[in-house]
Amino acid sequence: MKDTSSKNSIQHVGIIMDGNGRWAQQRGMPRWKGHEAGARAVRRATEEACRQGVSMLTLFAFSNENWKRPAQEVHILFTLLHRYLREERKELIEKGIRLSTLGRRDRIPARVLEDLQMTEEATRTGTRLHLRLALDYGARQEIVMAARALARRVVAGDLHPEEIDEVRFAAALVPDPVPDPDLIIRTAGEQRLSNFLLWQSAYSELYFCPKPWPDFEEADLACAIADYHSRTRKFGDLPRAAVSI
Ligand code: FPP
Repeated sequence: MKDTSSKNSIQHVGIIMDGNGRWAQQRGMPRWKGHEAGARAVRRATEEACRQGVSMLTLFAFSNENWKRPAQEVHILFTLLHRYLREERKELIEKGIRLSTLGRRDRIPARVLEDLQMTEEATRTGTRLHLRLALDYGARQEIVMAARALARRVVAGDLHPEEIDEVRFAAALVPDPVPDPDLIIRTAGEQRLSNFLLWQSAYSELYFCPKPWPDFEEADLACAIADYHSRTRKFGDLPRAAVSI
């Protein structure tokens, strides 16, 4: 029997925003101009995610490997993030968008951290969309920290090694449980995850968009989500159509 059931539900979308530097270089501009245009694309993607009914959007804004970039580029990236937090706070509140981050916080410049905490606090009750910025983030680092936290509990006699299962491990990754990403998008034609949400992406659908991030528009997110809806998600099971025969 043909499966006529409704399309896949979509709660959580992750985006690896790539290609800012190439976008700028192709236009004879300095790389930072690409990051500046990338910040505008963040606003567009956030608005479209709301329109599409997505409840969580995780954006890879700064990896723990990005510290290797020239100090001036790192400075510009945090300056753009700082500007974004100051300029967008009011609108985030008005639109019911909650902002939070994942990743290390101890290396974020103090001036940015202060505004980040203010924005997180001011938007905490937003229910329309939860916008998460992965900042100084690396999935392997996240997994190692979770393993370390569980090991400490075992040493303290609070947990038996046999009690460590997928649910406990996932809970150790982040303080608040969040749904795994249904869809992960990467721009600029690269086809890899680059240390983004490695544990959580076990069953995520992947979508690769050839456009560099600054050119990513509302319609591109809508296209990615439409493509996601056309896919058959099985999670190791049989497709629903086959089950109903
Ligand atoms: C990848 O492009 C992008 C980044 C490393 C940073 C993403 C930052 C922004 C979109 C701007 C500010 C963010 C917010 C949340 C306001 P790349 O530089 O690696 O591009 P390339 O591969 O072409 O060099």
